[in-house]
Amino acid sequence: MAGRLAGRVAFITGAGMGIGREAALLFAEEGAGVVVADIDANAAKETVALVERRGGRALATIGDVALEADVRRMVADGARSFGRLDVLYNNAGVLWKDRDRSVLETDEKSWDRVIAINLKSAFWVTKYGIPELRRAGGGSVILMGSVSALAGFTRAQDAYTAAKGALISLTKSLAIQFAKDRIRCNIIHPGIVDTPLQAPYLTEALRREFESGIPLGRIAQPREIASVALFLASDDAAFMTGAELVVDGGFTAG
Ligand SMILES: NC(=O)c1ccc[n+]([C@@H]2O[C@H](COP(=O)([O-])OP(=O)(O)OC[C@H]3O[C@@H](n4cnc5c(N)ncnc54)[C@H](O)[C@@H]3O)[C@@H](O)[C@H]2O)c1
Repeated sequence: MAGRLAGRVAFITGAGMGIGREAALLFAEEGAGVVVADIDANAAKETVALVERRGGRALATIGDVALEADVRRMVADGARSFGRLDVLYNNAGVLWKDRDRSVLETDEKSWDRVIAINLKSAFWVTKYGIPELRRAGGGSVILMGSVSALAGFTRAQDAYTAAKGALISLTKSLAIQFAKDRIRCNIIHPGIVDTPLQAPYLTEALRREFESGIPLGRIAQPREIASVALFLASDDAAFMTGAELVVDGGFTAG
């Protein structure tokens, strides 16, 4: 299959829905084999079916990105099934506005779980995935940050914010360490995106309030973030590593 990712294989966490699913569809359209790694088996299988219906190749592998054994197995599943891995897209994340609030209101269990899913996941995915990229002769690691890591908000989600902030530093460290292996590492900071992650919180009133603070006047569609991940995964970004791409409709520029 022709395309910007022809012959490549992408391991995408949280590809069962939202931005990750769009990335799976887009990467497959561009010729990549896609490993759909998600904790939700039905969602992952649905993404695989959508990719296959459009003529692409995908594999569902189920597990929790916070757990070492699960990530080791999911990476191995992908590498065994497709014979290589070229892209690691550490996309899975959770935003639990009910339990993850200001440090004054968050309990230890919620803090630890939010940090594990949003930050420790990147540790496991890169620990087990980078050796596969090395075997493939190089590749692209994409981490998922957030505008939450770039500014404080009075409606705080402190564990989420701290995890996303730490991913910025990890991006730079990985970029420097593995440049010699022709492995690039970059981070995307989306603004608000219309996905199942936001759905429980996004009342019409809140959507209008958010949109009034976004210069482009609307929240993003998942494809508008996935397309930036495609750019970073592809050779179009061959000279980019250690970079932060803010994709927020101008929100943090204001
Ligand atoms: N939606 C936004 O407004 C927004 C804004 C900034 C950053 N982001 C980031 O983008 C990424 C994707 O967000 P989204 O909005 O598409 O989310 P989403 O909730 O729509 O989808 C997330 C996917 O991750 C999976 N997942 C959750 N926990 C997991 C776990 N422990 N192990 C494996 N899979 C797990 C879910 O099953 C789901 O398929 C996240 O890292 C999020 O923090 C999203």
